[in-house]
Formats: sequence, structure tokens, C-alpha cells
Amino acid sequence: MNVSEWLEELSKIEERFVSAVKENPDFDNIFESFLGKKGELTLLLRKLGEFSPDDKKLLGRKGNELKEKIVKFLEENKNKFGGFKKYSFDIDVTLPPKKLNLSCAHPLTVTLNRIIESFEKLGFSVEWGPLVEKDYYNFEALNFPPDHPARDMQDTFYTELKDEKDKNYLLRTHTSPVQIRSMLKYKPPMRIISPGKVFRSEAVDATHSFVFNQIEGFYVDKNVSMSDLKWTLESFIKDLFGQKADLKFSPSYFPFVEPGAQVEVSCVFCGGKDQNCRVCKGRGWLEMLGAGMIHPKVLENCGYDPNVFSGFAFGAGIERFTMLLFGIDDLRVLYENDLRILRQIY
Ligand code: PHE
Repeated sequence: MNVSEWLEELSKIEERFVSAVKENPDFDNIFESFLGKKGELTLLLRKLGEFSPDDKKLLGRKGNELKEKIVKFLEENKNKFGGFKKYSFDIDVTLPPKKLNLSCAHPLTVTLNRIIESFEKLGFSVEWGPLVEKDYYNFEALNFPPDHPARDMQDTFYTELKDEKDKNYLLRTHTSPVQIRSMLKYKPPMRIISPGKVFRSEAVDATHSFVFNQIEGFYVDKNVSMSDLKWTLESFIKDLFGQKADLKFSPSYFPFVEPGAQVEVSCVFCGGKDQNCRVCKGRGWLEMLGAGMIHPKVLENCGYDPNVFSGFAFGAGIERFTMLLFGIDDLRVLYENDLRILRQIY
């Protein structure tokens, strides 16, 4: 390309610019087709490299004249026709940014994570069990004989697995079968917590659901005693609700522990001081856990000599902890996934 060819090309570009302004004053388009990376003028100016320094000076000046003309046009008309779409010089950097719709963990997951963190500090590890469970692990090995009335404590969804010889399956009614599975799988000492869904044939209301979450915990070793249980639960509850939380153990019955206890926590809302407290109804205490020393029969069922080994176990509903931690008074809120409510929690 020689000097006159270059100049001819430049004047053609100018003509095309003039007609583009007349015919189709689309600013993005004008910027793109003349000044953009692959714009006509940009490409022509790039060719200057091929010329001698003197020619370069002359041609460069001419080329820049057109460039300035185009830029001036764009600048002067930037507010017309809606301005630039892509190359707007009108960005208001002081405007607040658009709110991002970030996701967050479900309150049940938040609670569970806090519980797990708390027990990990005490040396517990996490174990998971199947939701469709053998009758043997859910009941029999836990010292609920067939037809024993204690089974009525847990309304059960029975089912069967087609290809299995053993037809006695059910949706697990509690996380306690993980005690059996773990004792068969590991050797003591073992400190395990096991969270997960459990199922009971119950009607749904503000405090009941046919599927909910529990967390099981147990410690099996030589010389494990009731005082280890009390210390462990106290450390956990104080870690979760603060040092002021108090614990009360009273006798209770579960076939797989002896002695068995019901564990209450001093009301985390009123501290037992408000006669009209909505949460504890003025009782001052909240039922939070079932617990006890693992029954000798259960240890035997897992092949452990109860004269050598002992253990404690406890179980609790995760929903109850969630409701107390977040001040929720209806369980159903946790399953309906109404974003207006979930968003208030985080
Ligand atoms: N599995 C019992 C229940 O669901 C709770 C529990 C666990 C009680 C461990 C004692 C020991 O009701």
C-alpha cells in the first residue's frame, strides 16, 4: 500500500462515517466499526508501520484528524438515542450495587454443623447410618423384643426390600441403630455421634412431623460411667447455649439403656425466671435429650462382655435445637422452605 492508496482509503472511511451518522446513528455500531479493535480506522492506522518516518508523520496526522472527528461526534452525541449501550461514559459509580441473591445453609444444617463442631472438640467422630433399616438393628438388637410394648413408643413405617431374604425392614424410627452398627464395625474405645433423618408414623403439627432429624451420641470403652455422660452433655449444652445453661437428669425408660434418663436444659429464653415464658411455659426446663448407660444386653448383642466394657448413649432431636437457637415456634417452618422466613434466619 502506498501513500495515495492509504489516503484514498482514509477518505473512503470518512465517507462511510458520514453516511453512517446520517443513516444509522447507532453509537455502539459507529464506535465498533471505526474505532473498535477491528474498526476500519484502527486497522488503517495500524498499517502506518509500513511507511517511512516522514510519510508516517503526514499520514498519522491525517488519520488522527478523522479519529478525533469521530470521537468528538461520539462525545457530543452521547446522550442522544439512549447513549451508548456498551461504551457508556455515563456510569454513576456512586450508585449502590445490585443486591446479590446469595444462598445460605438451611437452619437445620447450621444447627447440625454447630452440634458436630461441639462434639468434635470432645473427640467424637461422625458416623452415618442407612435410613431404610433392618428391624433387627432398629429394635431387636436394641433390646426391643418382637411384640414388646416398648415398640409402641415409636410408630413405625414397616417396609421390605424385594431381593433380600430378611423381609423385616422399616424406615428407622431413631438414630440408635447406628450404635449397633458401629459397635459391630469398630473396636472400643469409640466416641461417635450420628446425625440423620428418622421417620415415625405421626400427623404433622407445630411440634411433630413424620420425618425429622436426630443426633445420636455414644461412648464405649472400659470404665465409662454415668459421670462421663453428665460431663459430656454438660460441656456440649454449655458450648451451644452458653455457660448459664443448666442440666437436670431424671429417670426415664428406653429398653436399650439402664439406667435411663431424660435430660432437661434450663430454659434458654427466660432462664427459668418468667412464669409466662412462651417457650418453657413457666416450667423453667426444656426436655432436650434421652440418655443412659448402654444396656448390658445391647453390649452382649454386639459381642462385648458387659463386665469389661461399658458405655453411655444419648439421643436428641435436631429440630428442637434449631427452634431454640433461632427462636422458631413452629416446626413446619423448617420444612416449607418459605424464603421470606428462611431469609430472616441468616
Ligand atoms: N433413641 C431414643 C429416642 O429416639 C433416644 C435415646 C437415644 C435415648 C440414646 C437414650 C439413649 O427416643
